[in-house]
Amino acid sequence: MLKRSAHRTNPIDSAASVSGIRSQFERSALSREVIDVNEINRETIALLRGETVRYNISVRTELAADLPQIVGDRVQLQQVAMNLIINSIEAMKDVDGIRELAIKSQRVEKEQVLVSVSDTGVGLPPKLAEQAFEPFFTTKPHGTGMGLRVSRSIIESHGGRLWAVGSSGRGATFHLSLPTAPC
Ligand SMILES: Nc1ncnc2c1ncn2[C@@H]1O[C@H](COP(=O)(O)OP(=O)(O)OP(=O)(O)O)[C@@H](O)[C@H]1O
Ligand SMILES: [Mg+2]
Repeated sequence: MLKRSAHRTNPIDSAASVSGIRSQFERSALSREVIDVNEINRETIALLRGETVRYNISVRTELAADLPQIVGDRVQLQQVAMNLIINSIEAMKDVDGIRELAIKSQRVEKEQVLVSVSDTGVGLPPKLAEQAFEPFFTTKPHGTGMGLRVSRSIIESHGGRLWAVGSSGRGATFHLSLPTAPC
């Protein structure tokens, strides 16, 4: 297994990035549009096509055709999809063997949409599955360690949940649930 270590950024840089992230949030109130989550997934995959091709990553989608719409902020939800998919690409770009990104969406229990992003990357040990969401937790030399923290707060501000399922070997899966739009 690859050796992993947590790098913590300089507290001064960290304070600067926190205020940057806060001002990003404070700039506008959460906009509330009716959104097709599948469309956000497709757009994000398309935007990152250059990277997946470059690293020889195959992308598999299983997007439910009858997915109910949700209400939320399109830009913020795109940011979450971007963070999760970039993390998966980064986890896979140096591994040997199969490099596969799988993005699935489904309706669960009538009023929830569930999206999962899985990869065959370096892996996320189960004991790090929750720690990965802590502010400034990063194993990347140039990571801020804020991507997952910000993503979780975006999803929670939409009334949903974001969590990770680690594994003892290769690969990681991130799940998010969002409440569907009222009919
Ligand atoms: N798909 C994944 N596979 C394995 N580890 C992951 C995955 N996604 C996240 N992690 C782990 O969680 C850490 C935190 O992720 P997060 O997105 O918050 O920050 P980052 O990616 O390190 O930095 P930034 O998002 O600012 O570029 C990562 O450094 C990595 O150790
Ligand atoms: Mg990240």
